Amino acid sequence: MTEEKNLDIEFQIQGQWKTDIAIAFALEGEGADDACHFTQTAAPWLSIAPQWRDFHGKKDEHVLLYGPPAMDISRCMVLGLGESKDLSLEDIRMAFGKAVSACQDLGLEHAGVDIVSMARIGAKLGIAKDAFAKELALAAKLALYSCDAYRKKSEKPRLRKLFFLLDDDFCDDSLKQAVRFAEAEAKGICLARDLANAPSNVMTPSRFAEEAQNVANYHNFSAKILGREEISAENMNAFLAVTKGSAEEPRFIVLEYRPHHIAEDAKPAVLVGKGITFDTGGICLKPSAGMEEMKGDMSGAAAVLGTFETLGRLAMNGVFPNRPVIGIMPLCENMPSGTATKPGDIVFAKAGKSVEIINTDAEGRLILIDALTYAQENYQPEYLVDIATLTGACAVALGEGAAGIFSCDEKLSKKVADRANALFERAWPLPVWKHLSKELKSNVADMKNCGSRYGGSLTACLFLKEFVSDDINWVHIDMAAADNADNALNPKGATGYGVRTLTDICFAE
Ligand code: BES
Ligand code: MN
Ligand code: ZN
Repeated sequence: MTEEKNLDIEFQIQGQWKTDIAIAFALEGEGADDACHFTQTAAPWLSIAPQWRDFHGKKDEHVLLYGPPAMDISRCMVLGLGESKDLSLEDIRMAFGKAVSACQDLGLEHAGVDIVSMARIGAKLGIAKDAFAKELALAAKLALYSCDAYRKKSEKPRLRKLFFLLDDDFCDDSLKQAVRFAEAEAKGICLARDLANAPSNVMTPSRFAEEAQNVANYHNFSAKILGREEISAENMNAFLAVTKGSAEEPRFIVLEYRPHHIAEDAKPAVLVGKGITFDTGGICLKPSAGMEEMKGDMSGAAAVLGTFETLGRLAMNGVFPNRPVIGIMPLCENMPSGTATKPGDIVFAKAGKSVEIINTDAEGRLILIDALTYAQENYQPEYLVDIATLTGACAVALGEGAAGIFSCDEKLSKKVADRANALFERAWPLPVWKHLSKELKSNVADMKNCGSRYGGSLTACLFLKEFVSDDINWVHIDMAAADNADNALNPKGATGYGVRTLTDICFAE
């Protein structure tokens, strides 16, 4: 949706190495011969660069070294990583993100990384070279993400190419595949960030639907987009109750991806994402401080659409998931007005159960239950996964930056959380405790839409569970605390959280 501001990743074989700057990592106490072992073949001046004298390889230390300008590589940035015993791949990702940003800030267009020398550090941590290269490629792309569609155009120089400097032995197909996989993930994550960073006056439900249609057209996915009338014909009255106060038309988006080589009747992964383009709270209006953040209340839907972008990019590289993938994204605004739903109102959800809407700010679960019902009526999911910025209570429980993972099958929630963490999407399993269901008892309807403050994420999950059949592999991801960040790999704003984990689920055995 924003202009193409791609960082190209290319491979240079030894002998061809030529770049504005080389980036290298040093452990504490290391010098040119370790940190720049291979780089030195194209930058022989490195070993005698005077800047080494005051560089010790301590964590967060970095140094710029300069050689004769006529050389193929005449600059080098070395990053200290400290001692290897304290080091994690997450630290390396962050350090590398800082480095590529620093190269861009220097006004350089091309940077290179001597992956062969760097991989010695990966090896010390037990990380295979392909996995290591993949994380560096992704880190570079995420670090350079910026959302500038809503500023006056500036002509700031950008880093355009990142060269992986390799020797013949190192540069094999599996390494290239790993880097291409990271690039596909980056595309999806950056799309999700763009969608969630967009203000609500731009990213309306109908605009989001256009973006979904564009992704579908580009990658040949089928798309079905329902408007208010069709949503009503589907009896999605819980969804309609949320959109009622808004002047914006709601959209219910369904994407289908059926890779050619997968059997017609193979069970799909069905991914459901919460898409509230702005959450005012409705009649139960939120306080104004920080309310602007609620433009990101469609991050779940953005993660689902981002996943489809990633799957499409992977297909372009001949990489296909193990099953069909269905994306379901209910999109609307939650607004107060003369037509809005009021506390105490009762609606019959698509599944036929009635819900007393005690709190109009517990709207995400209302749109999700109708989407989950739609998913089960129309598909036989192998996995049914919903992802949503659902409860502030999840941030209270786990702190900023982590998602809560729920499943009635605790092995499954543990497995998804483990995979998410391995992909640097911080996650933790939370329990689906049936004894808390009594909080959702209503005096007048089959259930009410929220319980007490205690265990707010758990009761939200239990509410959803009432609309999911017991025999389904269902996972609920509450990403309310993971949708925003501000770090070396994430300029302040949306994270694109979920794209990696959802993609991974599509490839699960
Ligand atoms: N979108 C919010 C949850 C949220 C809060 C997301 C903070 C991101 C950051 C959700 O719709 C909401 O308002 N939840 C209420 C539920 C309550 C009324 C039961 C909440 O968490 O306070
Ligand atoms: Mn809300
Ligand atoms: Zn919300």
